[in-house]
Amino acid sequence: MKIVVLAGGLSTERDVSLSSGCQIYKALKSNGHSVILLDIFMGFEGDAATAFESGRDWAAEIAPVKETAPDIEKLKASRKGGSKALFGPNVLELCGAADIVFMALHGDSGENGKVQAAFDLFGIKYTGTDSLSSALAMDKSIAKQLFIAAGINTPKSVLLTSKSDVPPVKLPCVVKVCNGGSSVGVYIAKTEAEYKEAVEKAFSYENKVLVEEFVKGREFTDGVIEGVALPIVQIEPKEGFYDYKNKYQAGSTIETCPAKITKQLEEKIKAAAVKVFHTLGIKTYARIDFIVDANEDVFCLEANTLPGMTPTSLVPQEAAAIGKSFAELCEWIIEVSLKKYKA
Ligand SMILES: Nc1ncnc2c1ncn2[C@@H]1O[C@H](COP(=O)(O)OP(=O)(O)O)[C@@H](O)[C@H]1O
Ligand SMILES: [Mg+2]
Repeated sequence: MKIVVLAGGLSTERDVSLSSGCQIYKALKSNGHSVILLDIFMGFEGDAATAFESGRDWAAEIAPVKETAPDIEKLKASRKGGSKALFGPNVLELCGAADIVFMALHGDSGENGKVQAAFDLFGIKYTGTDSLSSALAMDKSIAKQLFIAAGINTPKSVLLTSKSDVPPVKLPCVVKVCNGGSSVGVYIAKTEAEYKEAVEKAFSYENKVLVEEFVKGREFTDGVIEGVALPIVQIEPKEGFYDYKNKYQAGSTIETCPAKITKQLEEKIKAAAVKVFHTLGIKTYARIDFIVDANEDVFCLEANTLPGMTPTSLVPQEAAAIGKSFAELCEWIIEVSLKKYKA
């Protein structure tokens, strides 16, 4: 197949996406496909007509994920021409020429459903779920309302739409942006001063901020493919919570898959993951994050419709636990994604 692996973009998770894209690109190439790796924002300045046959190593210039999220304003200024379009040069042409686009985007450029909507209008096939479910899952305040309506347990929260609006809350609390990811814009506040500071910082990213009750407990995540739950991962950061650094710096978090938990808890988490998947109308695959408290009550934090895809990412670890290699997982995602277009 001719495949474009689409990564990068303008979200705070840009570097993570490029890292996912790089690994997917290599895996699909080794599977024998004709593959190009494209940064959706920077695009491709060369000859689009021969891009698939160029023999070029598209992964050569991709750097590993740094300790902090990248400077997006600097990146925006670095593109020639001054266009504000998310799609860089030749991106739509190359995606249109592919049999499928493998979505390695994370965060608001790609995970919020807008790229999926554009691709639907252009008749471009892509991996992962559709635009509506992407949008619903991306906005944590909207997803939460759907969870509550469906009887899915989720931490209590209040939505703030202005930074002057700092209602009294029980501490500790979690302040988080509604449309973020990779824990960028997520703060755990233990004191009144930390709470105020967290709200201030969160509003520097966007103007919709959730303040959630802090759930003390163990953290788990579970991938779901075609409505079937994969083995669960337990996540234990060595220090602090599962923030950006603990997510992407090797060795900073213990990730155990399959999680060493009772059969009963395993069934409970898997059932919740599948329910979240269907409640948001997700097609193909997703990964759902949970905290489980001392009473073994399972709280859903969020659904990730384009979860990380480096070989050490969580869904690839879950696939490995059922004997699927990273390259096999990539093929599986393509196969499942193509079913969207058969209906
Ligand atoms: N209500 C909460 N109670 C305790 N920890 C939380 C809570 N919400 C978030 N966290 C911590 O913050 C991390 C990121 O939060 P999450 O809602 O999953 O956002 P993101 O989209 O950035 O991953 C979680 O993995 C968890 O470690
Ligand atoms: Mg999360």
